Amino acid sequence: MPITVKSSREIELMTEAGRILEIVHKELEKALHPGMTTKAIDRLGEEIIRSYGCIPSFLDYNGYPASICVSVNDEVVHGIPSEHRIIREGDIVSLDAGVIYKGYHSDAARTHCVGEVSKEAQDLVRVTRECFFEGIKYAKEGNHLFDISGAIGRYAEERGYGVVRDLCGHGIGTALHEAPEIPNYEMKRKGVLLKAGMTLAIEPMINIGGWEVDWMDDDWTVVTRDHSLSAHYENTVLITENEPKLLSLTEGI
Ligand code: MF3
Ligand code: CO
Repeated sequence: MPITVKSSREIELMTEAGRILEIVHKELEKALHPGMTTKAIDRLGEEIIRSYGCIPSFLDYNGYPASICVSVNDEVVHGIPSEHRIIREGDIVSLDAGVIYKGYHSDAARTHCVGEVSKEAQDLVRVTRECFFEGIKYAKEGNHLFDISGAIGRYAEERGYGVVRDLCGHGIGTALHEAPEIPNYEMKRKGVLLKAGMTLAIEPMINIGGWEVDWMDDDWTVVTRDHSLSAHYENTVLITENEPKLLSLTEGI
């Protein structure tokens, strides 16, 4: 599939999809507390998404059974919310969500520290977010796609972290996953030339230990092979001729 360049009308709709998703994440962050089940997070997320007239894009996506992916500690991404999984003080919790507004998608993830967490966990969460910002320094018309990938991967590896290789960022628009795939590690090739109007979901997934991951028996939850902690940070990004526009993060940059 070719990479789509969005019209100004499409960008308007994606901007709104991103703005609503930013609110969803803020509300979920406020609600997150020790003792809460991961299913309660999912229920609240779905309710907020629907209250804005949006559809939770993950629900039933390839059979995924929830609206919010909740991935705790050594879970990297795609954790399935459960009534039996309780968030504890000291956990790091990655929340990944997507909304569809008038046919247009946004996709964003945050990793939160619940109460007091170890220094190692705090550093991981901070560096994962920094990886995203390092990557988007190159997210500009005229640069190549894998400039972003290399910047993310080097930033993490220079600090001793493992960069997940089995999952990537992606284009986004009328579908959750559009071309191109966006690796979070250095590539030998340059990748496509970036053009204004492309919309990309850039999403580093970073581990304290090795890069290797496994899929759990539920066929969704991705865990680190060495069971080290993992963090995830993602925004939907619009490429322009100048600085990129973060559609799912307008405040607190
Ligand atoms: N943000 C995730 C991604 O880009 C979407 C989760 S896929 C789902 O891969 F199936 F869990 F919805
Ligand atoms: Co994504």
